[in-house]
Amino acid sequence: MKARTRYVCQKCSAISSRWQGKCHNCGEWDSFLEELIQDSKTIALKAKQSSSGIATTLGSVELSDTLRIPTGIGEFDRVLGGGIIPGSLVLVGGDPGVGKSTLMLQMCEHLVPEKTLYITGEESLQQIRLRAARLQGIPSELQVMAETDIESIAGAIKALKPSVAIIDSIQTARSESIDSTAGSITQVRECTALLMQIAKKTGTAIFIIGHVTKEGSLAGPKILEHTVDTVLQFEGEKTYSYRILRAIKNRFGSTNEIGIFDMVEQGLKEVPNPSEIFLSQRSDLESGTAIVATIEGTRPLLIEVQALVTPSGYSNPQRTATGFDYRRLQMIIAVLEKRLGINFREVDIFVNIAGGITLNDPAVDLAVAAALVSSLKDNPLEKDMIIMGEIGLTGEVRPISSIEQRLAEIQKLGFTKVVLPKANLSKLSRSFDHLTMIPAERIALALAEIVL
Ligand code: TYD
Ligand code: MG
Repeated sequence: MKARTRYVCQKCSAISSRWQGKCHNCGEWDSFLEELIQDSKTIALKAKQSSSGIATTLGSVELSDTLRIPTGIGEFDRVLGGGIIPGSLVLVGGDPGVGKSTLMLQMCEHLVPEKTLYITGEESLQQIRLRAARLQGIPSELQVMAETDIESIAGAIKALKPSVAIIDSIQTARSESIDSTAGSITQVRECTALLMQIAKKTGTAIFIIGHVTKEGSLAGPKILEHTVDTVLQFEGEKTYSYRILRAIKNRFGSTNEIGIFDMVEQGLKEVPNPSEIFLSQRSDLESGTAIVATIEGTRPLLIEVQALVTPSGYSNPQRTATGFDYRRLQMIIAVLEKRLGINFREVDIFVNIAGGITLNDPAVDLAVAAALVSSLKDNPLEKDMIIMGEIGLTGEVRPISSIEQRLAEIQKLGFTKVVLPKANLSKLSRSFDHLTMIPAERIALALAEIVL
């Protein structure tokens, strides 16, 4: 019988019985690759031949092997939810050059070297050695292997039974039994599925590195996110040395936690007090900047919001947001126009979150609004003031989460004034003696008080 095949779009995994030049689903050109179909009959047959599964009682399941292995890197452990879970499959995604290989190699420093296997398909072993020399402290007993063939990789893991194995990267891994190029959706998916099986069977925790496409999705394999236990995203702007490790999915912990690192000559350094660093480059008394206390995971972070409002030379003025949601910016502009009667129609607007960080916290709204008005009026905000609050469509300042943690951080860093939602103020369970609190209820009134 002729093997039946189908065509799969490498971008969105749409399926077609025939090759298509342009994907009917996502519109990508030349994205279809052929793959073998396992029809339901063969699957049913295999199921019949295999021995039947046996259920067990929940109480008899052993828990001993779920003890977490600490990575020795506090920021990394925090994002993982307290350390590495044996037998888990973790995907570490990020742009090329952001520092994924560096992070993984640095993790090896604190693990048992004889029980840690670093497999690279990207670099030669000499290059790994050179990198390790540069990072210092990487034990020479670390097990390394330059390999791209997934069956050989699987064999090595089964033979060595390491506690932790690292595959750098999944895009270079390739199975002989699949007739498509390394990095294609089919290869990436099959290789990951095999690694998942091995991780679960051997109890080895496997980290796979994946490069991200320009669009920001893990190259091809959105599907990978469903397969693996944990998806970590390593982010950073080219112009900054800060790197942020974020959990996008975590079967064994919270997805809100972030880890912050600084990329220096000797590799990645943990940043235990990020607020101090994010604020350290702040210039005094410029208009168009406001400081907000945001929450990333369980950790408060003080960040500077910058806005530039300038007369526009175009009939279609520009609006640019970096590190902040563009639609949210448009909403804030609309509310300011409606509730404060400010005209933004003939000005270009740029909003930037300093430090190359991206904020999704709604508490940032009020700081963005204040920075916009400050820049427009060329009127600097008070230097010691923190501004936070969510803005609603009717111009109300809505309460925000984790208020006490934010206030504690603000007080710790020596700021003295805080503009915060009125609704939060009445619910405080402890006092902050060194802070002057300015309650905000309506955006118009609040801004009139602090900047207009
Ligand atoms: P790398 O870990 O190779 O990135 P990825 O695996 O995500 O592609 O990191 C590459 C960058 O990191 C490179 O631009 C050089 C920089 N780097 C340092 O600044 N210091 C170091 O100690 C190391 C090892 C790398
Ligand atoms: Mg790399």
